[in-house]
Amino acid sequence: MDSKIKLSPSILNADFARLADAIKAVEPYSDYIHMDVMDGHFVPNITFGPLVIEAVKRITDVPLDTHLMIYNPPEWVEAFAEAGSDRISFHLRACRDPESVIRATRRLGASPGLAISPEVPTFELKPFLGMVDFVIIMCVYPGFGGQKLMPEMLNRIGAVKRDAAEMGVKVEVEVDGGVKAKNIPMVLEAGADNLVVGSSIFGATDVSRAAAEVRAILDGTDVRPAASG
Ligand code: DX5
Ligand code: ZN
Repeated sequence: MDSKIKLSPSILNADFARLADAIKAVEPYSDYIHMDVMDGHFVPNITFGPLVIEAVKRITDVPLDTHLMIYNPPEWVEAFAEAGSDRISFHLRACRDPESVIRATRRLGASPGLAISPEVPTFELKPFLGMVDFVIIMCVYPGFGGQKLMPEMLNRIGAVKRDAAEMGVKVEVEVDGGVKAKNIPMVLEAGADNLVVGSSIFGATDVSRAAAEVRAILDGTDVRPAASG
């Protein structure tokens, strides 16, 4: 795993009437495009299915990081892999047999990840840390962009990394929810490897400039004065 901190802009708050423009605007600064799939049952919102993954796959070479906030991921993992997902994460408590979904994801050629919402203790991840490539620590309750990051979630990054080290495995920790330019230093300090940033990029007047600013912070080249407070 290279040391570069990854940036995964989430399209949830992008202008879906001009999705191709939005993707093009963030492409130069992105390691992944974060695709938030919601079924209206596991979370109180509905977004999109494999069709949008396919459409985005046609217009960008940036790998797609599909975040399944759905019940019954075993039923859907193949469709999202076939549609072009490069990474597929699902929620630990969304299915009875996470191991089978992890194995299926890898068999289908995508990189498997497990996500936990704020109410799920990190120890529940332990049995699977040796099987996945990454873990998503949600810093908001899933379902919507534009929420405030829950700072008490950040110490979970270190907890998961300690658990993985005890098992002799390495796992990338992706932080998702409420990440913005002003709190990125705190998120990086906590040990995040990959940052999902949604509304503060796609909700900006100048999407490309917002993505460039976040990238500059991650690369340590940000020349703006540190945000106060
Ligand atoms: C929330 C999603 C997040 C969200 C991030 O359920 O999983 O990816 O879209 O958006 P912001 O950065 O606005 O919290
Ligand atoms: Zn997400």
